[in-house]
Amino acid sequence: MAAIVFSIVAMALFDFVLEADGQSNFAPQYTASGELIRPVGFETWVFVGSNLGLAYRPDLPDITAQESIRANQPLFHNIYIDPEAYAYFRKTREFPTPTILIMEMFKAADKEPKDVLAKGAFDGERIGIEVAVKNVARPDGSKTPWAYYDFTDPRDRSKILPSAAAFPDAACETCHRKHAGKDNVWVQLYPRLRDMPSP
Ligand code: HEC
Repeated sequence: MAAIVFSIVAMALFDFVLEADGQSNFAPQYTASGELIRPVGFETWVFVGSNLGLAYRPDLPDITAQESIRANQPLFHNIYIDPEAYAYFRKTREFPTPTILIMEMFKAADKEPKDVLAKGAFDGERIGIEVAVKNVARPDGSKTPWAYYDFTDPRDRSKILPSAAAFPDAACETCHRKHAGKDNVWVQLYPRLRDMPSP
């Protein structure tokens, strides 16, 4: 019992220290060369929305080759935000530094081992994780607050790389900045960010 009480008190103190010095519990971690280290534990973050097989209009400027290839395959995109950025956005409708958004991508599967499905599609094999990070003090030297990363191992899409370098702005950031609903984030597609009660 004493041990349990001690550990509850210790946890409370630990939380207090993290809050008191203004550090985020979900701050992005980087390698010495400024690559983003793969965020872990996002499965328990806030799930903001999902979509199936979205394709981007080819007549839009800023559509890149990678994006148009992606559009040929119907994939599920499941999107998460770190809980501190979510709480901040709920209060202010702004994304703070740091904000981390994760997009997990799955093949759309329609067959499961028991063979009971007649229709529809579900999250099949995971084939990639892409990450967006807002950080006004990026360690790679770029002054653009939003950086975009792909942790998918190109040799085996079921594997996730331990770290990834940010793409050049023209590959990802430009389209997000010009067309996303709010500060580079596609809130118009994510019900947990789009349909929020007033703060
Ligand atoms: C032509 C426009 C366009 C380009 C270029 C683009 N994206 Fe996106 N991105 C989107 C759209 C639309 C969504 C929202 C829906 C979806 O695809 O699931 C999105 C969503 C995301 C998300 C989920 C969080 C968010 O910001 O809403 C991540 C992470 C992401 N993209 C990463 C990337 C990366 C990495 C690249 C560059 C390799 C990239 N994107 C290039 C249009 C684009």
